Amino acid sequence: MGDVIFVNHPLIQHKISMLRDKNTGTNEFRALVQEISMLEAYEALRDLPTEDVEVETPLMKCMTPMLSGRKIAIVPILRAGLGMTEGILNLVPAAKVGHIGLYRDPVTHLPHDYYCKLPSPIDERTILVLDPMLATGGSASEAITFIKEHGGKKIKFMCIIAAPEGLEKLKSDHPDIQIYIGHLDEKLNDHAYILPGLGDAGDRIFGTI
Ligand code: PRP
Ligand code: URA
Repeated sequence: MGDVIFVNHPLIQHKISMLRDKNTGTNEFRALVQEISMLEAYEALRDLPTEDVEVETPLMKCMTPMLSGRKIAIVPILRAGLGMTEGILNLVPAAKVGHIGLYRDPVTHLPHDYYCKLPSPIDERTILVLDPMLATGGSASEAITFIKEHGGKKIKFMCIIAAPEGLEKLKSDHPDIQIYIGHLDEKLNDHAYILPGLGDAGDRIFGTI
């Protein structure tokens, strides 16, 4: 059953406001994207299963919970999703990392794929699909369709900023996934950029403007 979760912790909201500022430079922007991603992932991974294992402390043996069962795959959508990956690997260093390369046609705004490499097998894993921006929803929806075609089942999509249009599309195309959002913005402009948004996330992360 799909859910939409707004991760509206004050730390996340504060950091998103700093991201929006056009005067925030590349170094700081990158660091903020990683910090926000780690905070969102903390929430998105809340349902990871644990099992009690025996550990010997300096004082005695005890049974204590550790992560068990399904493994995790992180799948950033290139390019901008790459900026989120390191922050999440800080939390789950054993996660496997896949990549899906998509870019939006500047005129049609439709996604075009150019790369895909996923961990195999993927069907038993909890899969975190990463992209800071959910605008029309075309890129996220296509990436998730691709992952499902490769056997992915338990899929969570994480973004930093979403537009209502993209959220509706993603919910309608993939009603079975969970969607984690840092902030839901107002709307898209005529070029399918999110307003107020933060501009082009890939360019700001990689300093290509
Ligand atoms: C941006 C962003 C998303 C996509 C969102 O990528 O990182 O992948 O646009 O838009 P959508 O919801 O309308 O599909 P872009 O195509 O600019 O590529 P980049 O990450 O390489 O800059
Ligand atoms: N991609 C971005 O990077 N920003 C937007 O506002 C929309 C798509």
